[in-house]
Amino acid sequence: MPARVLLAVTALAALLSTPFAARAQDAAAGEAVFKRQCAICHSPVQGKNMIGPSLFGIVGRTAGTVPNFRYSPANKNSGIVWTPEKLDPYLTNPREVVPGTIMTYAGLKDAKQRADLIAYLETLK
Ligand code: HEC
Repeated sequence: MPARVLLAVTALAALLSTPFAARAQDAAAGEAVFKRQCAICHSPVQGKNMIGPSLFGIVGRTAGTVPNFRYSPANKNSGIVWTPEKLDPYLTNPREVVPGTIMTYAGLKDAKQRADLIAYLETLK
């Protein structure tokens, strides 16, 4: 293979495997999922509570700690820290992870959509 072609191929491979580029793409897809599935009840804006609490800074946050939001005791006392590993089963089936939650959301069954959504939630900080 001529050196120039080899260089181009190498550069392309590096570009395609850049984790940041992949995550940015996932986050963009995740934002679309958020708008369709979550935005009716949740704002990504800090301090803006709607039917659900603001999801600004949600990744890494302890459950039930947004000021001025009236959580259910189930959520407030769950002791959960919303890591991506915890958000994944929660968003699959909220009532299974937090029995008694007042979040009336059936769950997002598509694993890729959940991963994209969580990548987007990670940008809210
Ligand atoms: C029908 C309204 C509604 C929809 C749709 C909804 N939520 Fe919620 N969400 C709530 C409510 C209400 C709570 C508070 C639950 C409680 O106190 O039991 C909540 C709580 C949460 C929490 C815990 C917050 C905390 O501070 O502990 C997370 C995370 C969350 N929602 C994420 C999402 C995501 C992501 C989506 C979209 C896939 C979504 N929710 C869809 C209403 C909704």
